[in-house]
Amino acid sequence: MIGIIVVAAGSGTRLGAEQPKAFVEVRGVPMLERALAGVFGSVEPAQVVVVAPASHVVAARAIAARAAGAASGAVSVVVGGATRQDSVANGLAALDPSVDVVLVHDAARALTPSVLFDRVVRAVVASGAGVIPSLPVSDTIKRVAENTVLETVDRSSLVHVQTPQGFPRAQLVEAYASAAQEFTDDAALFAAAGHPVEIVEGEARAFKITTPWDLARAENVLGITTSMRTGVGIDVHAYDAAEPLWLGGLYWPDEVGLAGHSDGDAMCHAICDALLSAAGLGDIGGRFGTDDPRFAGAHGDVFIGETLALVSGAGWAVGNISVQLVAKHPRLGARRTELESHLSALVGAPVSVSATTSDGLGFTGRAEGVAVVATALITRA
Ligand code: CTP
Ligand code: MG
Repeated sequence: MIGIIVVAAGSGTRLGAEQPKAFVEVRGVPMLERALAGVFGSVEPAQVVVVAPASHVVAARAIAARAAGAASGAVSVVVGGATRQDSVANGLAALDPSVDVVLVHDAARALTPSVLFDRVVRAVVASGAGVIPSLPVSDTIKRVAENTVLETVDRSSLVHVQTPQGFPRAQLVEAYASAAQEFTDDAALFAAAGHPVEIVEGEARAFKITTPWDLARAENVLGITTSMRTGVGIDVHAYDAAEPLWLGGLYWPDEVGLAGHSDGDAMCHAICDALLSAAGLGDIGGRFGTDDPRFAGAHGDVFIGETLALVSGAGWAVGNISVQLVAKHPRLGARRTELESHLSALVGAPVSVSATTSDGLGFTGRAEGVAVVATALITRA
């Protein structure tokens, strides 16, 4: 059994926030919760012990339960000590007897990917040694005294190290029991007790958030992924020769129309579904009920307008939309440019439109109706 101790009991003096560092949010999510997301994403089931400041045990429990989800039985919270080393010792004391491999991890390395936990576990199991993630040093390193450079240190034999650091449990517990001084990491304490330590490759994202600049860096790294979302929408309507055709918000004279509670504009409806799905706001059926008289016979622009209000209300702007019609008719060719500019104006962002037939297959191939697929990209407004 694997045990993972996540130390979060520091005060974060260098960060200088109002609360202890692990409870400071990185893009709306506490550092501890982000760190635990990495822990619980790893492959091996593990007993997780969070070490928290005495003032924040209740908060840490709530965060741990949220991060653990269905695995919440496998996580506990204990109070930390005056130094990181004391905090790790408190975490070690809370491990289940079945744990034979222990990983010690800093909550402050909030963006550490799950693969790194798996990599360290595998290496400890394979080697029986202590294992630490490391990355090469890229800056030139100098030894100095006051303002004077004494020498340039050969950096080819230097690495900088991260957490999680992994150890066979029995040896780590014994090393902690015999430690007579403060060490800067668990591997140093482990090595001082005479045990071997090996390195595996670290991860750039496992950097430690120490200063306000590090926090800004973490927010920027996350921003790349969390400030954009995509969505998909599909709509299908049957042809109805008794109806006029409305498609993409345009009227198409001399074309067979589409059946539907509204005007049957499958293109506008697919666009709405793509936008709602991107923003995590459900779908058109759930948002605009067929029993709502506002939408009986409503044209596509009404649905798009209402959808855009919801999406922007949730803090998103539309990046672009791409939509494809699958149908025997109408043929878009002659009006494609007009359609694109009409929809782009409606949405306030580029909308590209394409069309295909389905090679005679299925309901579109038999000319029973049309299908439209749309994708939307939205960005944080
Ligand atoms: N830590 C801990 N108990 C302590 C001190 C530190 O559990 N008594 C934890 C921190 O919460 C952090 C990790 O050890 O996750 C690495 O420590 P560091 O980055 O130095 O955090 P702080 O000690 O909180 O920050 P500072 O040194 O700036 O006060
Ligand atoms: Mg510290």
